[in-house]
Amino acid sequence: SAIDRPKGQQPTATYDSTFLKACRREPVPHTPVWFMRQAGRSLPEYLKVREGIPMLESCTRPELVTEITLQPVRRHDVDAAIYFSDIVVPLKAIGVDLDIKPGVGPVVEKPIRSRADLAQLRDLTPDDVSYVTEAIGMLTRELGPKPLIGFAGAPFTLASYLVEGGPSRNHEHTKALMYGDPQLWADLLDRLADITAAFLRVQIEAGASAVQLFDSWVGALAPADYRRSVMPASTKVFKAVEEYGVPRIHFGVGTGELLGQMGEAGADVVGVDWRVPLDEAARRVGPGKALQGNLDPAVLFAPTEAVEEKTQEVLDAAAGLEGHIFNLGHGVLPSMDPDALTRLVDHVHTRTLR
Ligand code: CP3
Repeated sequence: SAIDRPKGQQPTATYDSTFLKACRREPVPHTPVWFMRQAGRSLPEYLKVREGIPMLESCTRPELVTEITLQPVRRHDVDAAIYFSDIVVPLKAIGVDLDIKPGVGPVVEKPIRSRADLAQLRDLTPDDVSYVTEAIGMLTRELGPKPLIGFAGAPFTLASYLVEGGPSRNHEHTKALMYGDPQLWADLLDRLADITAAFLRVQIEAGASAVQLFDSWVGALAPADYRRSVMPASTKVFKAVEEYGVPRIHFGVGTGELLGQMGEAGADVVGVDWRVPLDEAARRVGPGKALQGNLDPAVLFAPTEAVEEKTQEVLDAAAGLEGHIFNLGHGVLPSMDPDALTRLVDHVHTRTLR
């Protein structure tokens, strides 16, 4: 299969971890669990070490990145760490004039809307992100057998920030370009695919044991538009990292109608938000793929009994799956009680002990 044992630097204990086994659809002692956005503002220890350091600068400091990545692993005993960074880090690294505004998100100084604007996007080389290589080296030593997930933004979601100039509800400039100048759109996504692929390769070469491609906002598209205008670029990214044999996870929000195609693009694991039950998601994705998800993050604000009830619904829907990695249907929210997350990890582990 595409995820046979890699020849590279993967230690055996990592290869045999519960998380990577579930990604490969092998039997596991219990359902593995991690949370998207598990590092970050829900943790007081995060707020403390980030004090006075802008988000994008923090991503370039290997010691800080290592500490922040390890914080949720220590606190919650999740089955995998996710590398602390952001989807816009590779764009910043090649010189795109952008920043992450607190409470807003990524903001791009000169949005990309014409062919001339494409010049902002040059290829990414490992030297552009040497701090990533350094941080992942430190992290994999600290993590021991626990796997590290690398990640990147998918071409559509990156394009959405670049074309809109910031976060967007309706993606109007993005869609105007996609429908109005299909050739420029295709060239933009193809260039982003190369940058994204290069960024993922750096992380895998440095020691990441799995990668997740976040296409957070692609749920804004209808299936035919996804196939025509997005799938070629996402497929190119997955193909570019196939040779490493590490599991490739693909996730987006509101992607119920796209799950089959997101698998087809080359994912080994398809991430599902909370809108589609996992048994139905499995029918849409088809055989040969593991699923990741899908507790509604907002459920964590309800009393513990309600969280456990909703967690059981997720586990019941996942009962017949070949491979299941428990996660939220989207990221941890800053206002979440970290203790509720710790309890959730423990609950999933003990409930699924085999
Ligand atoms: O999961 C993890 O623990 C790793 C950290 C991580 C961050 N961003 C750190 C971050 C990951 C995986 C991301 C990915 C990311 N960034 C996505 C895809 C995931 C998703 O949620 O769909 C997207 C769409 C972005 C873009 C982005 N960056 C947004 C929407 C925001 C939040 C803006 C805000 O302030 O509400 C950011 C900033 C950001 N990225 C923060 C963190 C911890 C908050 C900034 C801070 O702490 O000062």
